[in-house]
Amino acid sequence: LYVGVDLGTSAVKLLLMDGKGRIEKIVSREYPIYFPNPGWSEQKPEDWFAQTMNGLKELLSECDRSQVAGISFGGQMHGLVILDDQDQVIRPALLWNDGRTYEECDYLNQIIGKEKLSGYTANIAFTGFTAPKILWVKNKEPENFARIRKIMLPKDYIAYRLSGVHCTDVSDASGMLLFDVKHRKWSSEMLEICGVTEEQMAKVYESYETVGNVLPEIAKELDIPETVRIVAGAGDNAAAAVGTGTVGDGRCNISLGTSGTIFISSEKFGVDRNNALHAFAHADGHYHLMGCMLSAASCNKWWMEEIVGTGDYAAEQKDIEKLGENHVFFLPYLMGERSPHNNPNARGTFIGMTMDTSRTDMTQAVLEGVAFALRDSLEVARSLGLHIERTKICGGGAKSPLWRKIMANVLNLKVDMIESEEGPALGGAMLAAVACGEYKNVEEAAEKLVKVIGTVEPEPELVEKYEAKYQQFRQIYPACKPLFE
Ligand code: XUL
Repeated sequence: LYVGVDLGTSAVKLLLMDGKGRIEKIVSREYPIYFPNPGWSEQKPEDWFAQTMNGLKELLSECDRSQVAGISFGGQMHGLVILDDQDQVIRPALLWNDGRTYEECDYLNQIIGKEKLSGYTANIAFTGFTAPKILWVKNKEPENFARIRKIMLPKDYIAYRLSGVHCTDVSDASGMLLFDVKHRKWSSEMLEICGVTEEQMAKVYESYETVGNVLPEIAKELDIPETVRIVAGAGDNAAAAVGTGTVGDGRCNISLGTSGTIFISSEKFGVDRNNALHAFAHADGHYHLMGCMLSAASCNKWWMEEIVGTGDYAAEQKDIEKLGENHVFFLPYLMGERSPHNNPNARGTFIGMTMDTSRTDMTQAVLEGVAFALRDSLEVARSLGLHIERTKICGGGAKSPLWRKIMANVLNLKVDMIESEEGPALGGAMLAAVACGEYKNVEEAAEKLVKVIGTVEPEPELVEKYEAKYQQFRQIYPACKPLFE
C-alpha cells in the first residue's frame, strides 16, 4: 500500500492506493491560514504535522497496516519553514501566496538583475518565491534570521518529522530561487546573495527517490512497519502532473485549486525569455514550464462563501446559461497576481454591471475571470511556439462541469478528465510506488495508472464568442493598473 500526502493550503489530503493503482481511501483534514496584514499569508508548520498525523491515523484505520510500503508527498510550494538548533520552528511559515517581499524582489530583480537570476536559477524573483522571503527575514527579523539552522519547504517539514532526514526534491527546490534548475543542484551564487550556506539547505533528491525510513516512534504511533519508506515527493503542481499523467514531452495539466496553474511538461530544459512562466525541474526526471495564478478556485470560494453566503456551489451555477455573452467581467487578483503580471498589488475587480445584472451573472463572471486569467499564461506558452491542443484538469474547481466547459472554450483546448481530481495526493502515492519498485519509472506508473474518463471538446461557436470576450478582458488589467499602485 502507498500513501500520498497532499499538503495543501486549506487542508491536507491523504490518499491510500494499492499496488495496482486502486484508490482505497481519501481523507482530508483542515488547518487555519492567517492573513496578519493585507497581502501576508502564513500557516503553522506544527498544524500541518498534527493534522497529517491525524489524517494518517484515519486513512490507515481500516487497512492491513503491515502492507504499507511507502509514503510520499505533493506539497504547497515556495513556503519558507525555518528551524533552530533544537529543531523548533522559529516563526510561522510564509506561504506561496504571501506578497510582503516586494522590496526584496525589487532588490533581486533590479539590483542583482533579472539576467543574472535567470542565469543562476532559470527564473526571476516573484514575491511568493522562497529566496526573497529569506531576505525579508534577514532584513526585518534579524534575530530570527540569526537562529536559522535548517531551511525547508512545507512538505519537507513533514518528511523531516516522519523520517528525521532534512531533504527536498528537485521540483519543489526549483521554486526557491536558490536552485540551479538546469543542473539540478543548489546555486552557490544565490545562497551567497541570500546570506545562507549549503549546510542550512536540505539534501536534494529526485522526486521518486527514497530519503529514508519512517522513524521508529512514528512507526509505533501509526502501527506501521519500520521499513516504510519516506519518498522525497514533489511540489504540488509536479505531483499533480504525475497524478494526471502529465509526464514526458509536451503534455499539459491545469490545476484549479486555491491557486490556478497551467503546467507543460518537457523532456528538455528551456526558459521563457521573459521569465513570465516558471522553468522548473519535473518529478519525472525532466523539466516543465508553468504559469501560476494566485487565486483560482479560491476566488469562487470567496465569492460563494464570503459574499453570496452559500456553500451550495452547484445550485448557484445551475442557472448559468448565457455562456460567451456575459457583460460582467471579473479580475481574479484577490491576492495580487503572479503569472503573467508579477504584481503583488493587483486586486480583484468587477466591471461592466448594469441595472439588470444578476447575482448569477456575477457568479459566471468569477468563473470566466479565472479562465481568462489562465489564458494569459497559455498565450505566453503559445508565444514560445508550444502547440498545446489538449489538457488534463484537476483540483477542486475541476469538479464543476460548467467550469470545465468554460475552460475548454475560453482556452480552446480539449479538456481530458481523469478518474480522480486528487492530482497531488495521487501523484504522491504514485511516486512512493515507483520508489518501492512497483513501476520502473514515473512514466510507466503514469501510463499504467492514469485513465482518461471523458473529454470536454471546445465548441467552435462558443470559442469564437469567448475569443471576443477575452480580447476585452485583456484590456482591463492595464487600464486598472494605475489604481493598484
Ligand atoms: C506554484 C504555486 C502554487 C502552490 C499552491 O508556483 O505557488 O501553485 O504550489 O499550493
